[in-house]
Amino acid sequence: MASSSSTDAATSSVVERVQNFVSENKKAILLTAVAAAIGAAGVAYYASTSRPRPPLGDVEKGDGSDASSSSGKKKKSKSGKKKKSKKDDSGPILEERKPKVATVSEGTDDLDLELDAEELAALPEETRTKYAAAFKGKGNTAYTKRNFSEAADYYTKAINVTPKPEPVFYSNRAACYVNFNPPDHEKVVADCDEALKLDPNYVKALNRRAVGLEGLNRLEEALRDYTAATILDKFQNAATANAVERVLKEIATTQATELMKDRRTKLPSHTFISAYFAAFRPRPELVLPVNPSQGDETLQMALGALAAANYPHALSLVNEAITQGISWDAGKAEAFNLRGTFKFLVGDIDGSKSDLQTAINIVPSSTQALVKIASVHMEQGDPAKAFECFDEAIKQNANDPDIYYHRGQVLFIMSEFSQAAENYLKSTELDDGFVFSHIQLAVAQYKSGETGESMKTFRRTLTAFPQRSEPQNYYGELLLDQGRFQEAVEKFERAIEIEKTKPSPNVLALVNKGLALFQWKQDVGAAEQCCAEALEIDPECEAAIATLAQLNLQQSKIKNAMEMFKKQAEIARTEPELINALTYQYATASQLEFLKNYPNMAAQLNALARGM
Ligand SMILES: *[C@@H]1O[C@H](CO)[C@@H](O)[C@H](O)[C@H]1NC(C)=O
Repeated sequence: MASSSSTDAATSSVVERVQNFVSENKKAILLTAVAAAIGAAGVAYYASTSRPRPPLGDVEKGDGSDASSSSGKKKKSKSGKKKKSKKDDSGPILEERKPKVATVSEGTDDLDLELDAEELAALPEETRTKYAAAFKGKGNTAYTKRNFSEAADYYTKAINVTPKPEPVFYSNRAACYVNFNPPDHEKVVADCDEALKLDPNYVKALNRRAVGLEGLNRLEEALRDYTAATILDKFQNAATANAVERVLKEIATTQATELMKDRRTKLPSHTFISAYFAAFRPRPELVLPVNPSQGDETLQMALGALAAANYPHALSLVNEAITQGISWDAGKAEAFNLRGTFKFLVGDIDGSKSDLQTAINIVPSSTQALVKIASVHMEQGDPAKAFECFDEAIKQNANDPDIYYHRGQVLFIMSEFSQAAENYLKSTELDDGFVFSHIQLAVAQYKSGETGESMKTFRRTLTAFPQRSEPQNYYGELLLDQGRFQEAVEKFERAIEIEKTKPSPNVLALVNKGLALFQWKQDVGAAEQCCAEALEIDPECEAAIATLAQLNLQQSKIKNAMEMFKKQAEIARTEPELINALTYQYATASQLEFLKNYPNMAAQLNALARGM
């Protein structure tokens, strides 16, 4: 993503920290959201596979196959522990619940199974119930022999003859349709619908319907069913939990691909862009030719808008300037450099490369364009090319401190922290007035284990740049990382104070303060307040939104969390970011739907959560 390239590594750090937290706890959070939604005390982690959970009394276990329990035949041994649910498609074992009507097996041997429908219909209810049980038994036998069409026919007979349909008839027939070649997903879904009408808590039917829906590519409905099955199964069924993840991933990936097509023109947040541009030293103002063309003047306005941090305006003006035509080379190179930069920021990597290359072709000594095109190569996974660009830039102007700073950034991303530090140091030697070289030097020192040196560098930088918020903010991050909460918060507050005096403040320190208060005092309210303030200033601040989403989850405000995930998805610019946000959005949505469909489960879930 653009944020991780040789631009400003620090910008993305909050988002990354939040997202690392998220991915580490991903499974836990997905499954926790439900418990959180119903207001369980604290956050209970339902690690789905790590430990067995105590079963809830009145929810069926799904053990004991009809096939084995009705007659005690030897096939029982085949299902082993018979506790784990089996996939329908991989084995012939039908594991259904014990029938609600007891003793159905008695006397079935005397029944004449050759009777036709009319004759069957004429029988008394009690006898018809016996017939239904007998047909089901035959169905089970056929099923275990993998003759699925025969089995389906018997279940159909059971359904036709019974005075009182049992959910198991439909669910078993659905299992047959799953095993048809090819599977008949429509019929699977229809039968499971019937089974679930009769018993909404029928986990096996839910799982089976999910399989059918997945087969029909009705993924959101499949997710709904897998989610319900996972929860009703008390998170004990690893296969179902994996299915939840698989379908979530598919939904998110498919949607992300679709949405990314429309995202090529969307700029990142103000906070992000300003941090990006701040990573380049200011350059002398462009001098227009004596008789400037209209395009020349538009370009000047674009640079003015950029200086005033009005990025959308700068973008549309530079586009206009290029269309109008620029009359001199330095201006042209500048325009393509700027447009290429914006393209990079919106994630149009190829377009960016082509614009930057144009700038370099017009003015080969354009070190900024060379440095930026190095980022493009990094983005395309080609570090060797990136370093070639830096070498070329050094050939053009060995004393440009920007080159070493950005080469440091690339090395930093590659986790080559000592080499990165050397480059930052070189950059500060050439020009010690650029605050980010000092900050990154300190961070690189910290990352390579030189904590003492790092702190020294930071303190020097704080003294040298008393009016800059960035050293305060990033020093605060290191302090936070060391658990020195109070000092960290002080630094963030100083950074916030400095930023407040600006026309468009950078809000990262605000979000950091929120995180610090949360980690330090578990003060969720204060943390939320900080994020809310940040969003008032920059409504699209990625870090604030990601943090708020997690804070909401922690607090059982699942609807708010979902809103935040939605928002996160709306502003995501890279596919991985988008997939991540969509995954959470759909996970929380399906869990909300579960609670809507199973309101009586809320109390049980609550008890389950408290029992942990
Ligand atoms: C399945 O059952 C049907 C009907 O009883 C029978 O005609 C068919 O031969 C069986 N198929 C196999 C493979 O046993």
